[in-house]
Amino acid sequence: MAKKLRAGIIGAGNIATSAHLPAYQKLTDIVEVVAIADIVPERAKAAAEKYNIPNYYSSVEELLENCEVDYIDICTWTAAHAPVCIAAAKAGKDILCEKPLAATLEQGLAMEKAVKDAGVNFMLAVVTRYGGEQIKCRELYENGVFGEIYAAKTQYVRRRGTPGGWFTDKELAGGGPVLDIGVHAIDRTWYLMDRPKPVSVSAEVSYRIGDFKTKGITRWMPFGKGNGVFDTEDSATVFFRFEGGKTMMAEIAWAINGPERATTQLFGSKAGCTFEPLTIYGENEEGYLDTYKPEVTPNNYFEEEIRHFVECVNEGKTPISPIEDAVTVQRMLDGIYRSAEAHKEVTI
Ligand SMILES: NC(=O)c1ccc[n+]([C@@H]2O[C@H](COP(=O)([O-])OP(=O)(O)OC[C@H]3O[C@@H](n4cnc5c(N)ncnc54)[C@H](O)[C@@H]3O)[C@@H](O)[C@H]2O)c1
Repeated sequence: MAKKLRAGIIGAGNIATSAHLPAYQKLTDIVEVVAIADIVPERAKAAAEKYNIPNYYSSVEELLENCEVDYIDICTWTAAHAPVCIAAAKAGKDILCEKPLAATLEQGLAMEKAVKDAGVNFMLAVVTRYGGEQIKCRELYENGVFGEIYAAKTQYVRRRGTPGGWFTDKELAGGGPVLDIGVHAIDRTWYLMDRPKPVSVSAEVSYRIGDFKTKGITRWMPFGKGNGVFDTEDSATVFFRFEGGKTMMAEIAWAINGPERATTQLFGSKAGCTFEPLTIYGENEEGYLDTYKPEVTPNNYFEEEIRHFVECVNEGKTPISPIEDAVTVQRMLDGIYRSAEAHKEVTI
């Protein structure tokens, strides 16, 4: 029988308390959250009281020293992912880490080295890989429905959806919408294209809207206020080339003067698809055009992602979003900023 795991959460902010902890409450048969830590100890204490977590601490080091855990679930702001991950790996703990992998490619590479040196299991919590439609899409791909997926378009565009606090501070966040929501769109699209090897990227990013004062909008407010800095981009336009002449176009925005969009299209040699709802564009057995919506089992993707990680730890399996994928996607995101700075296509 699978062992019930003991988890320690680092970072008691918005994503920990609004998504991970509610998901853990549904997974009590396979995992127990035994400790939580935050550099603001009152936050760790409040979460511990609300969610009946027996221990709370003010750092990952204090938690690792005082509490026996099987894995660390990293829910800190992005610039703290690397130091927390490295401390956990050195202590021999498996790691589940919120997206994006890190604030910089260098931090991401240091995380990969620590994970590999320690031989621990690592999974990037890129939640959109774990949604029902993505799982179905992957299943259809593996059954040969799409043939070879050679091109994709993805958009994650908000009209006025810039988060508050540390998210707009490059030092803590690493970047703006490219790292925050671009990672969701680009990661899931690249994964569903069957992870083609990136070759180059051509991109521009814009800072023209900045710290807008638009009224009547709601924003994601992290618990971490940051340093009151606003030096992140508003939007990005991106074109990736992959080995074998495959391509991906991406449009990403926290703020833009246009309609909101969250779409992905995959184009394969036999069929293509769009999402929400998953719709397949192919030909039927008689050779006519065929457009259909396959049956999708709905799920809670945060629960699904944690369940998958726990299963991988228990069975010694590599998760579907391993450290190697996380580093490749971080290289792609880093390429966007390098290309924008150079105003030309750059190699990845
Ligand atoms: N999967 C998603 O859809 C999704 C949505 C929002 C945020 N996120 C990710 O979750 C992470 C946290 O975002 P958030 O909105 O919860 O931010 P938040 O500010 O609400 O929470 C982060 C917490 O981490 C704490 N912290 C910072 N450094 C620390 C350290 N070294 N040790 C212990 N605690 C530390 C802060 O004090 C804060 O309480 C980010 O990486 C973000 O990209 C993911």
